[in-house]
Amino acid sequence: MSTLVYEKHLDDIRVEFDALYTWDYERSRDGLNRLYEKAKRAQWNVSDDLDWSTPVDPWRLMALQAEETGVPAGFPGRALAEVPNSPVADWDEDRWIDFAVHSQCTSLSQFLHGEQGALLCASRLVEAVPWMEAKYYAATQVVDEARHVEAFHRYLDEKMPATYPINENLKTLLDDLLRDPQWDLVYLGMQVVVEGLALAAFGMMMGTTRDPLLRQMIRYVLADEARHVAFGILSLEEVYGDFSSTEFRERQEFAYEACRLMRRRTFNAELWPSFGVSNEEVEALLPPTRGQQAFQHLLFSKIVPNCKKLGLLDHRDGWLRERFGEMGILQYEHASTEVEELTIDSAIDPVEA
Ligand SMILES: [Fe+2]
Ligand SMILES: [Fe+2]
Repeated sequence: MSTLVYEKHLDDIRVEFDALYTWDYERSRDGLNRLYEKAKRAQWNVSDDLDWSTPVDPWRLMALQAEETGVPAGFPGRALAEVPNSPVADWDEDRWIDFAVHSQCTSLSQFLHGEQGALLCASRLVEAVPWMEAKYYAATQVVDEARHVEAFHRYLDEKMPATYPINENLKTLLDDLLRDPQWDLVYLGMQVVVEGLALAAFGMMMGTTRDPLLRQMIRYVLADEARHVAFGILSLEEVYGDFSSTEFRERQEFAYEACRLMRRRTFNAELWPSFGVSNEEVEALLPPTRGQQAFQHLLFSKIVPNCKKLGLLDHRDGWLRERFGEMGILQYEHASTEVEELTIDSAIDPVEA
């Protein structure tokens, strides 16, 4: 049983938006119809389809992962050991393995909380979108997201030593998404940015973990998430067709802000203090090594090509293209948007056009 101390168990935010009935039951959107049919056939059950009797020793698996991948335990935070007067200079291998296990707990915890955010956003879309086939599809996503929350919670609870609270940048973004009265921004923030980041982060964990249970679980989750991103793209392509330049500009800025918040999320701020190192020390001392940057940038590898597909990258003389260039993530504009296993090697050798 993993431990988690919450300051409070319930957290409320006030949201106001229009819930829409539609009396037009015709389904004319072919892409959304096919996605809905696919979603109904692809349902799976956390209780029955995963082998929960699989024994998991996170420390042994982490040592094995470091040995087999050649990526040292605790990467990329481990770069801190190399700086002069480093507060972690005397950590031995066991300490780094423990740090890596807890780092995995923080990632899984953010997946868990992000999934709950997705659950709330998807249910919100059921109420707010004007098209019947989008309401049908969003309803299947509600079930998917509930299943993902269930899966990550069960894995953390039964197999890992700790669950960490939500990262404040992720919480800020989820609050912003849920508060916004414009439903297309819920799509853009959740289905394109947060889920795009999840596709990459899940792909990275699937590519590195040595636990067959976690691998299988992520494989199932990824198959669902790929549909969710497709749902966002299909819906937004239609909405954006009618947008004015000003409305489009607002979406560009929203996508940029969401990406900035998500980049700050990757500092692992929940973790360091419990290992006796303050976040100020980490930010001041940790040099942005090539490997560490590549690792962070890889997380955006699914978001950038989808922003391009939606026309957000190049509107207004390429405003967002320039911002993504400054963030160092523009090289992913031609990257694949398919579900795949991602490795650090694929980050360090940038994706070709
Ligand atoms: Fe999900
Ligand atoms: Fe999702």
